[in-house]
Amino acid sequence: MDLVEKENLEINYWRDSGFESPKAFTKLNFLNKLQECDNLDYKITKYEEIIRDKKNVLEIGAGQGWASCFLKSFYLKEAHFTVTDISPHAVKSITNWERIFEVNIDKSYAAKSYELAEKDAQFDLIFCYASAHHFVLHEETLTELKRVLSQDGHIIFLYEPTCSKLFYPLHYYYVNNVPHHSPEDVLIPAKIKSICSKINLKYINHYDAHQVILRSIPLGIYFWILKKMPFLQRLLPSSSDLLFSK
Ligand SMILES: C[S@@+](CC[C@H](N)C(=O)[O-])C[C@H]1O[C@@H](n2cnc3c(N)ncnc32)[C@H](O)[C@@H]1O
Repeated sequence: MDLVEKENLEINYWRDSGFESPKAFTKLNFLNKLQECDNLDYKITKYEEIIRDKKNVLEIGAGQGWASCFLKSFYLKEAHFTVTDISPHAVKSITNWERIFEVNIDKSYAAKSYELAEKDAQFDLIFCYASAHHFVLHEETLTELKRVLSQDGHIIFLYEPTCSKLFYPLHYYYVNNVPHHSPEDVLIPAKIKSICSKINLKYINHYDAHQVILRSIPLGIYFWILKKMPFLQRLLPSSSDLLFSK
């Protein structure tokens, strides 16, 4: 599938979804995102030292923007937030989450991760949650994020599926054969590392097999084993948080 076709699927999913389009704010959507909030809360606590005191935050691949609303409401009340996603239909629903979390997001608009309408070096925190594996153009995205990141700022990609080059075909097959709304992918930390050395961005991969949300019993057991044997997380399909700085 070519890039334009894939991006159109991502964009139009949010327009056509029966449970999370801007036309309907469903109970299922609400409950689903609350579960994800619990996981995000665990991640925020884990990276509190980095996240604390940030003043100008950008979220990319934000979907409906619930994560920024949660972060602003409970951790960064004073920060200025900009929320983006490739799909204008996703971003439209942010008003529901602003109401729920009683916050005002300063700016939200549709944008690709590699084409942001933002000035250089202005954000001290750029983050995404479970989105970077959808971005396809990783080098272009990281180059663009580096451009808008302040000198002492941080980029965090949270809760991303990762695996080694060796297990990529297997992991790719798995993620595309469980029900999903758009084509899925998996990040390979070694590839991200080589992009980062090319564009001169510092990168640390934090493998994190801890699962706040029990998606299924077999997956729960799988991640429990990975947690007990952390050396396997570098090789086998796992979950990671990716940290970048200048
Ligand atoms: C799995 S969803 C996660 C959305 C949101 N973070 C959440 O947890 O609800 C991935 C998101 O990435 C967005 N996306 C895909 N490719 C993108 C790109 N190149 N730039 C920005 N957003 C993109 C999709 O529209 C979708 O909202």
